Amino acid sequence: MKFRFFARTSLIAAILAIFHPNLIAAGTDFPGERWLLDSGWKFYLGNPWGDVVSLAKAGDNRGPARSDFSDVDWQSVNLPHDWALELPFDRNADYNHGFKPVGPGFPTNDIAWYRRTLELPAADAGKRLQLEFDGVYRNCDVFVNGWFVGHHDDGYDSFRCDITDVAHPGGKNVIAVKVDASQFEGWFYEGAGIYRHVWLETANPLAVAPDGIFVCSKFKNNLPQGAAEIMVEAALLNMRTNPAEATVTCEIISPEGKLVAKFHQSAQVESSAQKTVRLDGKISLPVLWSPESPKLYKLNTTVQSDGQTVDRQETEFGIRTIAFDPNKGFLLNGKHYEIKGTCNHQDAAGVGVAVPDALQYFRIAKLKEMGCNAYRTSHNAPAPELLEACDRLGMLVLDENRLFGADAANLERLKAQIQRDRNHPSVFAWSLGNEEWNAQDTATGASVVRTMQNVAHSMDSTRLCTMAVNSGSYGDFGIFSALDVKGFNYHFESMDAYHAAFPAANILGTEQASTIGTRGIYTNDESLGYVSAYDDRNPRWGCSAEEWWSFFATRPWASGGFDWTGFDYRGEPTPYQWPCINSHFGILDTCGFPKDNFWYYQSWWTTNIVLHLLPHWNWPGREGQDIDVRALSNCREVELFLNGRSLGRQTMKKDSELKWKVKYAPGILSAKGYTDGKLTAETKVETTGAPAAIQLERDRKAIKAGGEDISVITVSVRDAQNRTVPVAANLIHFNLTGPGKILGVGNGDPSCHEPDTFVPKTKLRVIPENNGWHYKILPNVKSPQLSEVQPDFDDADWEKMDAQANADSLKVPQQAVFRTKISVTAGDLMAESVQLKIGRIDDRGWVYINGKLAGESHDWAASPTFDIKPLLHAGENALAVAVINDDGSGGLGNGVALRILEKADAPKWQRSVFNGLAQIIVQSAAEPGEIKLTATADGLTSSSAVIQSVESKSR
Ligand code: GAL
Repeated sequence: MKFRFFARTSLIAAILAIFHPNLIAAGTDFPGERWLLDSGWKFYLGNPWGDVVSLAKAGDNRGPARSDFSDVDWQSVNLPHDWALELPFDRNADYNHGFKPVGPGFPTNDIAWYRRTLELPAADAGKRLQLEFDGVYRNCDVFVNGWFVGHHDDGYDSFRCDITDVAHPGGKNVIAVKVDASQFEGWFYEGAGIYRHVWLETANPLAVAPDGIFVCSKFKNNLPQGAAEIMVEAALLNMRTNPAEATVTCEIISPEGKLVAKFHQSAQVESSAQKTVRLDGKISLPVLWSPESPKLYKLNTTVQSDGQTVDRQETEFGIRTIAFDPNKGFLLNGKHYEIKGTCNHQDAAGVGVAVPDALQYFRIAKLKEMGCNAYRTSHNAPAPELLEACDRLGMLVLDENRLFGADAANLERLKAQIQRDRNHPSVFAWSLGNEEWNAQDTATGASVVRTMQNVAHSMDSTRLCTMAVNSGSYGDFGIFSALDVKGFNYHFESMDAYHAAFPAANILGTEQASTIGTRGIYTNDESLGYVSAYDDRNPRWGCSAEEWWSFFATRPWASGGFDWTGFDYRGEPTPYQWPCINSHFGILDTCGFPKDNFWYYQSWWTTNIVLHLLPHWNWPGREGQDIDVRALSNCREVELFLNGRSLGRQTMKKDSELKWKVKYAPGILSAKGYTDGKLTAETKVETTGAPAAIQLERDRKAIKAGGEDISVITVSVRDAQNRTVPVAANLIHFNLTGPGKILGVGNGDPSCHEPDTFVPKTKLRVIPENNGWHYKILPNVKSPQLSEVQPDFDDADWEKMDAQANADSLKVPQQAVFRTKISVTAGDLMAESVQLKIGRIDDRGWVYINGKLAGESHDWAASPTFDIKPLLHAGENALAVAVINDDGSGGLGNGVALRILEKADAPKWQRSVFNGLAQIIVQSAAEPGEIKLTATADGLTSSSAVIQSVESKSR
């Protein structure tokens, strides 16, 4: 993981950057800094401006790309943002993408714009300035100050736009991003928009290049004994006009915070060139990283030149060894290490793909609780913060690439992904692709994979590559013939024969199981879109948890594998379609509430004592009927009881489960678990009473102020004895006070069409102002004391005109002032904003309200909008527009209107519980304080939860 500049992780610094931009230190001795640009964006869904790019003249792009474009009536958003989440479900939309009306067939929802102003301090002059986008879905054009600064197609990888030449240090800058999500990349929910962070990086012209630090460790014979050799590569970029002499100093700080190694190296870097400096160090008795003990070292890299510090970077890394062995499988720190993995897509309840950093940690922690030790980022490059969470919490990562191909652009993309991610100790291998049906069995596929693998090796000699292959017939052909580690998607029945035929092959279960089940549901119901959680029904290509895991658990050479999937995700609503809108594959639902399989894995993937019973015990009307009861446990024996009466003791087979048929009677179903004859566990499920109260449970009681951090709150509906009612479906209303907001809600119901997020709805009143206009041609409308724009100027003898008509009253090079009066009430001035929209000002114009300049327009084709509320008073106001016509006929026209944007009503947040549970995500605001969430529902006792939002220096 990387922290390029010390300031880059400081959220407080990021907030200060927004409100106090001049706080950035001046001077020539400036190491770079990194500022988070998540807040203060404006968003517009649609693209009535068409193609805004002007190829004729640079910097002359149109519409929202221009700096002077008015976005006052656009939606205010913070990043990360996923606009697909905000759209209603639509059964005509693509089911694989979760029935959200975006993508092919929904042109009005496909393109959106984001804009933000950015104040840069004068001290940024002379620095190299870059915008870094962690992920945009997808196909975006980036403009700064009207200049095109970059295009990026792929929806999953990070990219940068250098804005050094077009930025205005010491002034206002406008970033505009056009995002086009009309094309799918995958067959799962992909979201839409700037759904990961955006950063501003400021760097000395002589500095470490972007993602330019690579640190890794090596032991003799790849066995973690004795000293670890530390190898650092620092790529220096010199954008100065002269060659530079630079010294790179590396300090390594141990997990306990001690300086354990220091080494340096000098090099000359030519002008406008990049040079990689190689440094070697040693740590005598290193602490190893593993999922069980995720200890991290810090590499502090300082670059000095001419006695000045020009860059400082902090890179977290881990020391560990990894290897694959054809007989022993995957090895971590020299020993066989069974991969107990899950594949995952990146979306979550309430937020779609715009996952806050703290939610990445929440999700990884849930998987760890289950015993999962590896995460496959199916089928794309992950968010950097996901990797950070995996490094810090201890989770191996199979880092997957999205697009398979050996074309130059794709190889560059692959390189960039590896360069960005290779310092993360959690990443144990690269996955070059998934189920490429057109390639996996062919010679072309072998060729492509060989090229991609060579690129990966050239970027990172410490890791091997795999790829998820589901051919069904495996041999020495196609992709398998070229791949470092043979990745089996499903088809584990072919593995024994393959292993026997190719004893030198490294093997990994890249994707297995595809179990399906709905949390808390125990019958299949196609009309509701629910699948029983007994794990008895699997898709054609899948199998139960027990089937795949008992196979891998007895074959160390297979390295273990990845269950499809850890969490439910939007789209792929297998085995049903509408009304089902998300997948059932998760061991946990989209909120992270466990389904019963969670305890199967916990039994066999952890050393905890586990005893779990299913189903719930609320079956009114089924008295006397057989209920299928199961125990998921790692106890040697389990005895089941109904209302205190024993129903028999059974012996558990390893990696299995136990089953009983029980005649239903309400009451208490309980179990005792024994190991070595001793009672080691007890559990029960009880028939509950009717819903009586709401309970709110916070995952974190204190969060960091700053508008990024979150608390995830579990909402449960309880009976009078405070037991969760497993069949409750009450609609809960939420209200929040204090410095925070509700980010999203969810309940894990795969067929729920309630919104995950509530966007404040603004009401716009449009009042035409086309009458009462006069105009006069004048010699110089730009003269400083122009009385014709003053409020008391008498224009009675000027020419009359209709502002509705075409803007063609002027010839070249005429200039004129156009005047009218507009009336507003005191009530109008209570609105959120009052804007003046002018259909056309051809070619240039200056708009005055009561003699004060309200704004300018320099685009004859635009319909400029001006925020005029601050200049208005109740009653009659003078509006004057000075216009210069440079080309053809011109003037003012095409309709003028006042647009009164009423204050939005605070959205009324609500969500039904599904089988007793729902989730609500609360996010801090910029300032600290006490946030209070209250939940109410008809007929239930309400509940409140307080979250302290506290000031903090770190993200
Ligand atoms: C796999 C595929 C996954 C997902 C899964 C559903 O074949 O790799 O992306 O579609 O099937 O079971």
